[in-house]
Amino acid sequence: MDVGGWLRGLGLGQYEGNFRDNKIDADLLPRLTVDDLKDIGVSALGDRLRLLDAIAAFAGAKPPADAPVSSSRPAPSKPFQASAERRPITVMFCDLVGSTALASRLDAEDWRSLANAYLDEASGAVNRLGGHVLKRLGDGLMALFGYPHAQENDAERAVRAALAIQRALAELNARNAAKGRLELSARIGLDSGPVVVEAAGEVFGDAPNIAARVQGLAEPGSVLVTANVQRQTAGLFVAEDKGAPELKGVPAPVTLYRIVRASGGRRTGARTLTPLVGRGEELDLLRRRWERARNGAGQLTLIVGEPGIGKSRLVEEFRATLGETPHTFTEWSSSQLLQNTPLHPIAEWGRQRFGADEPADRRLADLENTLRLVGLDASEYAPLIAPLVDIPLPEERAAKLAPEELRRRQLAAMTTWVLAGARSQPIALAFEDLHWADPTSLDLMQALAERGGQAPLFILATTRPDFRPPWSLRSHHSVISLSPLDRADVARMIGELAAQHALSKEVVEGVSERTGGVPLFVEEVTRLLLERGEQGGVQAIPPTLQQSLAARLDRLGPAREVAQIAAVIGRGFSYPLVRAVANMEDEALQTALERLAEADIILVHGVPPDAEYRFKHALIQDAAYDNLLKSRRQALHRRTGEVLCDQFGATAAAEPELLAHHFTHAGMTEAAIEWWGTAGQRSLARSALVEGVEQLKRALDQIATLPVTPALRREEIKLEVAFANALALTGDLVGGKEHYDRALAIYDPAEHRPLKTRSGRDVGMTLLSVRSPCVWQLGYPTASLSDAERAVKNAREAGHVTTLMYALYWSSISCIFCGDYAAAHAQLDELIALASDRGAQYWQAAGTAVRGQILALTGKASDAVRALTSGITSLRSTGASLYELRHLWYLAMAYAELGQPDDARRCIDDAIEKVERSKEKWGEAEVNRVAGEIALKALAPDTEKAEKYFDRALAIARQQQARSWELRAAMSMARLWRDQGKLQQARELLAPVYGWFTEGFDTLDLKEAKALLAELA
Ligand SMILES: Nc1ncnc2c1ncn2[C@@H]1O[C@H](COP(=O)(O)OP(=O)(O)O)[C@@H](O)[C@H]1O
Ligand SMILES: [Mg+2]
Repeated sequence: MDVGGWLRGLGLGQYEGNFRDNKIDADLLPRLTVDDLKDIGVSALGDRLRLLDAIAAFAGAKPPADAPVSSSRPAPSKPFQASAERRPITVMFCDLVGSTALASRLDAEDWRSLANAYLDEASGAVNRLGGHVLKRLGDGLMALFGYPHAQENDAERAVRAALAIQRALAELNARNAAKGRLELSARIGLDSGPVVVEAAGEVFGDAPNIAARVQGLAEPGSVLVTANVQRQTAGLFVAEDKGAPELKGVPAPVTLYRIVRASGGRRTGARTLTPLVGRGEELDLLRRRWERARNGAGQLTLIVGEPGIGKSRLVEEFRATLGETPHTFTEWSSSQLLQNTPLHPIAEWGRQRFGADEPADRRLADLENTLRLVGLDASEYAPLIAPLVDIPLPEERAAKLAPEELRRRQLAAMTTWVLAGARSQPIALAFEDLHWADPTSLDLMQALAERGGQAPLFILATTRPDFRPPWSLRSHHSVISLSPLDRADVARMIGELAAQHALSKEVVEGVSERTGGVPLFVEEVTRLLLERGEQGGVQAIPPTLQQSLAARLDRLGPAREVAQIAAVIGRGFSYPLVRAVANMEDEALQTALERLAEADIILVHGVPPDAEYRFKHALIQDAAYDNLLKSRRQALHRRTGEVLCDQFGATAAAEPELLAHHFTHAGMTEAAIEWWGTAGQRSLARSALVEGVEQLKRALDQIATLPVTPALRREEIKLEVAFANALALTGDLVGGKEHYDRALAIYDPAEHRPLKTRSGRDVGMTLLSVRSPCVWQLGYPTASLSDAERAVKNAREAGHVTTLMYALYWSSISCIFCGDYAAAHAQLDELIALASDRGAQYWQAAGTAVRGQILALTGKASDAVRALTSGITSLRSTGASLYELRHLWYLAMAYAELGQPDDARRCIDDAIEKVERSKEKWGEAEVNRVAGEIALKALAPDTEKAEKYFDRALAIARQQQARSWELRAAMSMARLWRDQGKLQQARELLAPVYGWFTEGFDTLDLKEAKALLAELA
């Protein structure tokens, strides 16, 4: 916006210099105070007040007069004032051809008047179609459709405006030709896309550049549009494919279309209908009402629902059921483009009914005949009705009445005609999109609604939920509120649309969730999905829906801002939260939320302050979110994060990832790191490993974006350990080792010794303890034992009991893996003694269970069962479930040893199922190997089954690069083959696995493998 122009417009142009000298641009206006105005030299109080009022009006805020001044609370402000917005838009560039040459041939003044005449025509066309002329550029024009308010058919309006400009220019040329003047010719280019528009009038984004380039390529006198525009208007215009010429400065090729003329089509896209799903009940109801109407008790049914829910489709399906029953089906449709044209639905119908191309007298005769057939006096009715159905009347027959009176008589005549027609043959009258009807059409509908009860007339009117019919409900009226399709129906629809493409169950669920069961959205999202694939398609808003969603938001008025704030908070949100973030008064906020619910944008449960809300579909939430400037999004995320942190402690504790999400998007990296870390640790503690990995990774990714500080280093070490643990648990042993190593590399004992884990252990020693079993699995037994020993030694020296217990525990595990049961036993004795001393229940239970493992391994099966079952039970009672896997496989082995194959089987199946469910995959190979051994120990040994399990164990171990598990699986398989006499095969399997090892030859597995290989030789 130009401040000087604005001031002059207010009659305050004398201050232009003051504003300019003080560098006050349009974006600063909303921040000016009375004092500021005084400071910059607006001396008269009256002028200051006038300026403030004008600023308030321009900023869309209320004048400050009624703001509570003395209230103890700060007056609720609009929390964030946007000086620019992001929105989907259609941009038009229009330019004269060869204007320099033309100008040089004319006198300057003549040229000016010629060019101005054309520009006035062009601007007029743009304005009439709801566009916004942003700039005149010499003899060119740049116009926006979708700003400042989006409407669902912005692209269509833009194309119509372009055609209108070309038409106007042709007429102008015809007029000028008579006066011997020059011909003008223009090129017009259009593109659609998301842009940022500043209040001052600058537009940022690709669409303006592309539209300008496209304009340059258009042939003189033509309209050229991009595929982005064409896909939104297909079916409405006759278009010629012009291929995809290279556009300067535009990297990807863009297909262009020349728009020839309007096609007369009403609906966009000549697509085939998706087979109908659901709606059986609604159709039944319509059928029953129709039967009643046919028998003379006229009916009116209002079909209500949000855009795309299937209102028109229901009418169409109903029509299809009418079959050969004698009836007249009439369709009147309101058009969004013609809301102020009286009775336009009837005129449009009239043109179709009586044929717009027929000569006028033929059409009039047809009308008169029709009227006579239903028993009306044609000479009385035809002059009244003809103008309504767009049939010109000879001058002498026109009804000579005052306009008011004429309109009243016309409506009465129309009503009588419809009712008379129905009496001669039942009429089904579909009135589409009542919410766009002009006031006169509504009057007509009201008359029919009230008087239609006595005639065989069935009116089906479709409308959006925010429309209130002006008539009151009567006994012959009914309402059908169309609800979204349920999941099963959505899945069927997607199945039909995707045809031969098999979409995964998750994707289908995703579409269902995202679209909230609105059929139009299901169609568009699925189409995009098929077009772009699952990566690009599921999350994006289909371009065909962008403008209509933006229009829906714009229709909300002030409630739009609440929708945007809520969109930042999330798909679901509570009243207290949105109130705290929006910082609005209850009354205003509740009005806005009610408006959102009425417009079918959110669902409500409960009543404020206990109300919970949820966006009906993610698409509208995304659209609201997308229309926020990045800076404002950030500010809102920040506010949401802070509010959650300060005022919603319980939510913060239960859903730390929510805060992490908001702080990440707020660009508050440190807070984001902290909360991702908390979320990750919490997930691990709850055995949600996959989530934990993801969350910890995000924390580390965020850390990587910041310069290193000592505090961050400490945080990083802790996070690396937790992340490595999580990776190792999920079976990513290589990744686990890498991050243990990384943590150790940045760990400096001198500096980090005081660092403790969340459970109060020394981080450095913990690190060694947990790296030990990971390293063993990867095939380095000696290195593993050395880690374990160092951890125990350090903990002992530091005299840190909590850490020592941990170190002893993990050391005993590594010792068992390596087959040194005596050492493991001693460590467990020490652990259990320390634990009972301290009342450390968890360690007592864990120690007992691991003792059970040793018993199982050393032939004391019944003691093993006792120790393991009791250990497992007490561990479960402490809520711990990680690593239970290992206890289960030893327990299964002990059962098998005892000759209880069923128990063994149950136990190992349990372990396999647990791996699947918890994604704790680190021991998956061994679990399968043990399952194979158990199959061999059954009463009737099943070698085939055993072989399958061993195969699986080998495959998993290889995939995880878990050499030690691979060696064990290879030995099990080799023994099986040896017993079957397949010595060579056994050797060929085992030798390379064994040969891979470079150390640990004195540990049990390697010694056994060596002996077995010797036996096979
Ligand atoms: N029950 C349904 N089964 C299959 N497709 C449907 C169903 N309802 C609507 N559709 C499709 O969804 C799109 C939007 O429906 P439409 O009737 O135009 O919505 P509305 O008139 O409420 O805006 C159309 O393409 C329509 O064919
Ligand atoms: Mg419709």
